Amino acid sequence: MPTVRDIRAKAGEEPITMLTAYDAPTASVVDEAGIDVILVGDSMGNAVLGYDSTLPVTVDEVASRTGAVVRGVEEALVVADLPFLSFGYDEKSAVENAGRMLKEEGANAVKIESGRHTVGLTETLSQVGIPVMAHLGLTPQRVNQLGYARQGTSREAADEMVELAREHEEAGAFSLVLEHVPANLAATITEELTIPTIGIGAGPHTDGQVLVITDVMGLGDWSPSFSKQFGDVKGEMQRAVSAYRDEVESGEFPSDEHSHVEEELDGVY
Ligand code: KIV
Repeated sequence: MPTVRDIRAKAGEEPITMLTAYDAPTASVVDEAGIDVILVGDSMGNAVLGYDSTLPVTVDEVASRTGAVVRGVEEALVVADLPFLSFGYDEKSAVENAGRMLKEEGANAVKIESGRHTVGLTETLSQVGIPVMAHLGLTPQRVNQLGYARQGTSREAADEMVELAREHEEAGAFSLVLEHVPANLAATITEELTIPTIGIGAGPHTDGQVLVITDVMGLGDWSPSFSKQFGDVKGEMQRAVSAYRDEVESGEFPSDEHSHVEEELDGVY
């Protein structure tokens, strides 16, 4: 079983690969491809649950999807995202929500959209044995305050991010996601920290990269400018569904090959 130490050990040595997944079959494909870390992101809100942001995603939804992903994976480290308001105001419930992901669903770690308010929580979770992946830059749970704009673009905001990155490392975070930040800022934070940074829209100089699986496969209607589509799963699904419809309508499916006639019932039915 992989541990967060294996991921930490890759920092500066070889690129860390991370993708999201939200169900067992997809997680199994991602795992078999040799991806190091699978994130059960709250991006499931937009990607697969039909919401227009991550805010409505519940602890139950992340827990159920985390269990499914864990069941589909043999090698990759599975990280469960803590959704909006499941942490950040009451440490006891945050520890319980994070603990549930490991204890009941089998995740290896949790990710927390971070800020000054999560330094103490990161320390508590790390001390009790719940590895924390911190997350700075664009944090979509703050969409009502920040929108989806690039973060850390002013000197002051960049300094604050460097400081928060250091504080989360000191608090025990085993890695740090940097989302939609200038590449030169991400490079500096990567140099400053000993834990690995994993970038999304943060340029090429982080220790690893993460993208949302539906963007990578080409299954969504929209994807951010910093993402890249590597496949056409939507096109393939459309072809398969249309072919099924055509064959049912024409009577071609089901054929003899897909049917069974019971001889004993011949002449009776
Ligand atoms: O929820 C998510 O998928 C994320 C990644 C984009 C880092 O937070």
